[in-house]
Amino acid sequence: MKATQARAVLTGATGGIGREAASALLQAGASVMLVGRSPARLSKQARELSSSIALAPGRVSWHAADLDDGAAVDRLREAAVGFGANVLVLGAGLPSFGRFDSLDPVEMRQVLQANLLSPMLLAHALLPGLRRQAKAQVICMGSALGRIGLPGYSVYSASKFGLRGFAEALRRELADTAVRVQYLGPRSTRTAFNDARVEAYNLATGTAMDDPERVAKALLRLLEDEAAERFIGFPEALAVRLNGFAPAWLDAAFAPHRRSLPGTSLGSGGTGGTSGTGAPLAPSFSDLSSTNPES
Ligand SMILES: NC(=O)c1ccc[n+]([C@@H]2O[C@H](COP(=O)([O-])OP(=O)(O)OC[C@H]3O[C@@H](n4cnc5c(N)ncnc54)[C@H](OP(=O)(O)O)[C@@H]3O)[C@@H](O)[C@H]2O)c1
Repeated sequence: MKATQARAVLTGATGGIGREAASALLQAGASVMLVGRSPARLSKQARELSSSIALAPGRVSWHAADLDDGAAVDRLREAAVGFGANVLVLGAGLPSFGRFDSLDPVEMRQVLQANLLSPMLLAHALLPGLRRQAKAQVICMGSALGRIGLPGYSVYSASKFGLRGFAEALRRELADTAVRVQYLGPRSTRTAFNDARVEAYNLATGTAMDDPERVAKALLRLLEDEAAERFIGFPEALAVRLNGFAPAWLDAAFAPHRRSLPGTSLGSGGTGGTSGTGAPLAPSFSDLSSTNPES
C-alpha cells in the first residue's frame, strides 16, 4: 500500500533499525505506533519525531510492551485496534553470536522466543483486527541469515529461518484475503545489535555492513511495492538464492568465517574454498563480496 495509507504498529521501534524505520515511514506519510519496552524512551522518541518532522497530531503514538509477556500482547492488541492498524512490522529481536558450544542455553531460549515465538504470537493476536481492514500487511524483519546459515549464527539463523518459514506459509494461507505477509532480509547492519566480536568477524571475513537508513528505505519500498520478500545487498541476495539450490556447494565458502569465530585458533579450520583433500569446491564468500561495488 502507499505509505500515506499505512497505520503501522512498529515493534523494535526504539532500536537502531527501528528508529530509522519510524522516521522513514513518518516522513513518507504513514502514521506509526512505536512499540518497545521503555515508556520513557518511547515518549521521548515520539516527541522528537513529532517536532523534527512537524507531524500533525495523532500521526505518531507509542505503546510500551514486553512482547514476551502474553498479557502485554493482549493490551497491545487493544491499542492496535484503537489505532486502526493496517500494517504490523515485526521488528523487535535479539542477537546471538558465537560458537554453538559457547552459547548459554538460557540465552538460546530467549533468542528463539524474541525472534520467532513472540512475533508469531503478536501476529496471531493482531490478525483478526488486520483482517477487518480493507487492506493490510504484516512485514517480518528477518535477516539474510534467515536463508543462509553462517558459522557463529546457529541459533540466530534458526530463529530467522523459522520466521521466514512462518512468513512464507502464512502468506500462502492468507493469499485469498486482504492481508499480505512479507519478509525483509537485511544483512549485517551498524547498530548496537552487533558487538565488537561481530565487527571483528565482519572485518576478518570481508562482510559488508549497512547503515540502518538503508534498511529503513528497503522497508518502505517493501511496504509500497508489496513484494513477498527481499534481501538487502550483494553478494548476500545472490548467496541466499544459491544456498536455496545447492547449500552443500557453499559449505566450503565459509571456512574463513569458521576460522574467524571468537575462540578459534588460526589454522584449525582448514582452508577456505577447498575440501579436506585440497580440491576447490566453491569461491570464498569474501571473493564474491569484493566483486561488487555495493559492498
Ligand atoms: N543489526 C543487524 O545487523 C541486523 C541485521 C539483520 C536483521 N536485523 C534484525 O532487525 C531487527 C532490529 O535490529 P536492530 O539492529 O535495530 O536491533 P537493536 O538496536 O538491538 O533493537 C532491538 C529492538 O528490539 C526490541 N526488543 C527486544 N526484545 C524485546 C521484547 N521482549 N519486547 C519488546 N521489544 C523488544 C528493543 O526494544 P527495547 O527498547 O525495549 O530494548 C529494540 O527496540 C531485529 O529483528 C534483528 O534481528 C538486524
